[in-house]
Amino acid sequence: MGRYLINGGKKISGTLKINGSKNSVLPILAASILNSGQSVIHNCPDIYDTHTALKILKHVGCKVKFENHTAIIDSSTINSYEVDPDLVKEMRSSIIFLGSILSVMKRVSISYPGGCELGKRPIDFHLAALKKLGAQIIEDGDKIICSAENLKGCKIKLKFPSVGATQNIILASVFARGSTKIINAAREPEIIDLQNFLKKMGADINGAGTSQIVINGVEKLSNVEHKVIPDRIVAATFLISAAITKGQIEIENVITNHLPLINFLQTGCYIKLSKNKIYLKAKEFIRPIKNLQTMPYPYFPTDLQAQFVSLLSLASGRSIVKENVFESRNKHIPELIKMGAKIKILPDNTTFIIDGVKRLNGAYLISKDLRGGAALILAALAAYGKTIIQDENHILRGYEKIEEKLKSLGADIKYEQ
Ligand code: UD1
Repeated sequence: MGRYLINGGKKISGTLKINGSKNSVLPILAASILNSGQSVIHNCPDIYDTHTALKILKHVGCKVKFENHTAIIDSSTINSYEVDPDLVKEMRSSIIFLGSILSVMKRVSISYPGGCELGKRPIDFHLAALKKLGAQIIEDGDKIICSAENLKGCKIKLKFPSVGATQNIILASVFARGSTKIINAAREPEIIDLQNFLKKMGADINGAGTSQIVINGVEKLSNVEHKVIPDRIVAATFLISAAITKGQIEIENVITNHLPLINFLQTGCYIKLSKNKIYLKAKEFIRPIKNLQTMPYPYFPTDLQAQFVSLLSLASGRSIVKENVFESRNKHIPELIKMGAKIKILPDNTTFIIDGVKRLNGAYLISKDLRGGAALILAALAAYGKTIIQDENHILRGYEKIEEKLKSLGADIKYEQ
C-alpha cells in the first residue's frame, strides 16, 4: 500500500505531454496473440495494467520485451490457454484475453473476474456472444472454460454498448468463418484503435467508431507495428488539475475531439485548441453543471465522473451528476465529504447532488478505485492544508508517475511506498 502526501493550494501551471491510452493498450496487447508472430507496439503507458497484460502474455508462452514505452511481443511461441487467476485478480480487464486466446488456441480457461468497487460487473454479454459464435462454455466454480474448433460468423446484438464485450467479439471473430456483425457496438476511440491495429495485421474489419462493426474472417495475420492513441482520460484529469487550482495548463499529444471539452466549457474554463494540443485557463469561479450524465461514447465518460465531482464540489452553486454506466461508482464521495464537500448521494446510489463549497480542507483519505483515487488527488491539490491518500496501488494502475508530472506542474505532492 502506497500513499500520496499533498500540500494543497499550489496553482498548476505548465505544459505536459500525454502518454498512451490504458484502455487502448490492453485490448491491443491481447490482440498481439492473433498473428502468431511479432507485434511492435509504441506509446504504451508504463503503468501497472500494461505490466499485468504483459505478464499474461508471458504466462501463456509469448516472448515479451518492454523498453521506453515500446512493447515487442513474439506470439509464435504461445503454448498455454490458461490465464493465470492471480493476474485476473490483479486486473479485471484480463477478461479481454478471452477472445484472442480462444481464436488462436481453440480453447481458453480464465477465472471469473467478479465484481469490484464499481459494482457487479457481469461478463454475460461476452459469454453469450462467444456462445453465439459457436464456442462451448463450461463454468466450473469460478473458472470459465471456452472451447471451439471453428467459430462461425453471426449477427450479435449487444443489449448495452459494452466496450469489453465489443472488443472480445472482435478478437474472437477475426478468424471466424464468414461474416460477424456487431449491432449496438461500443463507439469508443479505443475500439477504433483496436480496429486500426488489426487492419495493419491484415484483418478484414470495418465500422469501428459506429454502432455496427463487421468482421469478415481471414485465414491468417501478419507482423505489425503500431502506435497507441493518447489517453483521453489522463488528458482530461490533468486539465481538471489546472481548472480546480485556478491555474493553467497546455497538454500536448492529445486527440482533441476525444475529450468532453463541452463540459469543461460549461464549468467556465477558457479553452484554446491547436493541433494535438489543448490549453486550459481557469476562471476565478467554477460554474456548476445542472445536469451531467455519464453515458457511452461520444457522451460524457464514466471514467471522468469522479474527477468532475471533485471539480464541481468547488463550484459556485448546485450541480447534479448522474452515473448511468456503473451502479456503484460513488466510493470517492464519502472521502470528498471528509474534506468538507457538500455532496448527497440519492437512494438510487447513482445521483449526486453537489452544493459547491468555497473551500476543501486537507484530510486523511482512502482511495478505493483508480479514477476515484485520481479525483481525490485533484481535490487535495485545491484543498487547504495537507492531505494523505492511502492507496492500494489503484492509481498506479492507470496513471504513469502522476506525482512526478504534477510536481513538474507546480504541485506539492510526494508518493511513499
Ligand atoms: C471499459 C473501460 C473502463 C470504462 C468502461 C465504460 C477498459 C479496460 N475499461 O470497461 O475504463 O469505465 O469501459 O466506459 O477499456 N456489462 C454487463 N455485462 C457484460 C459487460 C458489461 O452487464 O457482459 C455492463 C457493466 O456492468 C457496466 C456496463 O455494461 O455497467 C459497461 O461496461 P463495459 O463497457 O463492458 O465496461 P468495461 O469494458 O469493463
